[in-house]
Amino acid sequence: MKNFKIIANWKMNGSKEEVKDWISNFLDRADLKQLDCIFCPPICYLDKANDIIFADNLKLNLGSQNLDSDEDHPSTGAINGAMLKDLGCEYVLIGHSERRIHFDEGEDILLKKLTSAVESNLKIIYCVGETTEQRDQDQAVATIKSQLRILKGLPFNLVSIAYEPVWSIGRGVTPSLDSIDEMHQIIKDEVKSIFNTDEKIAVSYGGSVTKDNATSISLLNWVDGLLVGGASLNPESFSEIANNITGQN
Ligand code: PGA
Repeated sequence: MKNFKIIANWKMNGSKEEVKDWISNFLDRADLKQLDCIFCPPICYLDKANDIIFADNLKLNLGSQNLDSDEDHPSTGAINGAMLKDLGCEYVLIGHSERRIHFDEGEDILLKKLTSAVESNLKIIYCVGETTEQRDQDQAVATIKSQLRILKGLPFNLVSIAYEPVWSIGRGVTPSLDSIDEMHQIIKDEVKSIFNTDEKIAVSYGGSVTKDNATSISLLNWVDGLLVGGASLNPESFSEIANNITGQN
């Protein structure tokens, strides 16, 4: 298994100045020896981040929060995988619940995005997670298995998963440690059978990760990374997350 992943998802936050300050403050503080850190600022700041990372050969990977499908080309405002590569991106988030819900991204769109990411050789972090209603109706596992199904046929070496219960994102609540671990194990078994491989596919957890709960979640058997939204914006707390994890391994 590769290094533990920590993924900073800035969502629609930040500015050019904040990107610059965050990178230098975070890297000054964080010990990333056993971690892969993937920084996902808004797309408009990827170029700025890439310039800084490239100039000093910094140990930071760039990820995009979104991409548009090549099939939609040349739609106004669209940004495809090749453009993201050109901006220095190695990773892309696909299937985040905020995009599924607020941008109405269903299976058809997600499949086109996944295919485009593969064509551009981008590493995919495919997000899955159940809503409150699905959880309350005992449909969490069925929901996640059905969200995973569209990965069939993609090259497994480009895919990792992020399990993010929708009811946890930005709400300050998380599932119990046991239920996070249990769901990750279910996801791992499912992707193994989808890809028909014994290779390990990383599964990260996301949803209200903070410096107070990150270490205990990271120590779970089946958790290979953390996808952090709100708590990634502040370089001090994000580096504390990184250093606490490194200190435990
Ligand atoms: P949060 O967001 O850490 O603020 O809950 C996580 C995410 O949406 O990726």
